[in-house]
Amino acid sequence: MILITGATGSIGRSLAGQLRQAGAAFRALVRDEAKGRAMGCDFVVGDFDDPNSIIAALDGADRLFLNSAGAQPVDGEQPMIRQQKTVIDAARETGITHVVKVSVWQARQGAKLSQGAHGEIEEYLQASGLAWSLLQPAGFMQNFLTPEAFTSDGNLISSYGSTPVAHIDCHDIAACAAVLLAGSLAQEKAFVLTGPEALTDAEVADKVSSALGRPVGRAELPPDSLAAAMRSQGLPPRFADDVAFLVKEVAAGSQATTTTTVRDITGRPARTFDDFLAANLQSLRAVAAPPTP
Ligand SMILES: NC(=O)c1ccc[n+]([C@@H]2O[C@H](COP(=O)([O-])OP(=O)(O)OC[C@H]3O[C@@H](n4cnc5c(N)ncnc54)[C@H](OP(=O)(O)O)[C@@H]3O)[C@@H](O)[C@H]2O)c1
Repeated sequence: MILITGATGSIGRSLAGQLRQAGAAFRALVRDEAKGRAMGCDFVVGDFDDPNSIIAALDGADRLFLNSAGAQPVDGEQPMIRQQKTVIDAARETGITHVVKVSVWQARQGAKLSQGAHGEIEEYLQASGLAWSLLQPAGFMQNFLTPEAFTSDGNLISSYGSTPVAHIDCHDIAACAAVLLAGSLAQEKAFVLTGPEALTDAEVADKVSSALGRPVGRAELPPDSLAAAMRSQGLPPRFADDVAFLVKEVAAGSQATTTTTVRDITGRPARTFDDFLAANLQSLRAVAAPPTP
């Protein structure tokens, strides 16, 4: 039986749906019982900050999908480091045989925010004695379903200049996780996951425009202006600077290439940005709505 952590998140929900369809035995870890009931599957209530609840949640499980929220606007250590180490310790204690962890592309010790946090957790997992697989995705297409992606007048906020980015649909990350959790592929490997194409912000805006049936422009927000805006919203200055640093890396081309890993693992092509927009039109309309005149 598989325990899905981060089950109410973008990847976790999709993974639960795909495992249900495949008839696999799984349980979802949720913090909020009402969210668990709404998922309509076997669930258990627990919190990464309560180690005993994680040990209890793992009872009867032999495989673990490890995922949590990304980087938080805090000054000190990223909470995911402590939280995911807690889950890894509990997995060792309860006899889990294989952990599939969501990480990030270019994760490494000492890097900023989620890249550094995932780098540290990856090393902890690799030293744990547990069998592991690492999913290292590019930026999520689902980021375009958040209000931060658009201005209040419905234009795309653009921080990557004319550099393409190989955004991936979380559905494909979940599909890769499902195959790996089934155990049919090699473990002890890191898989870099991207979408099938790398798109510039201008190309993304054009595609969003076609999907919504209205013009969608680009509102340029270079990384340093992004950091200034975050600071003016009261976010910790170091966090704002670190976000700007990572955005500059992407703007310099760190996610401009594609891999075939989704197809290699699942046997089918990764979803295109157009596929993603078609599948999420209602959510897109909700976040990218221009003000009514
Ligand atoms: N966004 C990107 O472009 C990108 C790119 C590469 C990698 N990543 C990585 O992807 C991961 C995020 O995946 P996602 O987008 O699927 O997640 P998500 O939608 O942000 O959801 C986070 C999940 O973690 C759960 N959670 C948070 N705190 C918890 C706690 N204390 N105890 C138990 N559960 C807790 C949340 O539950 P609740 O419903 O209770 O809040 C939710 O299910 C991060 O590790 C991030 O670094 C992101």
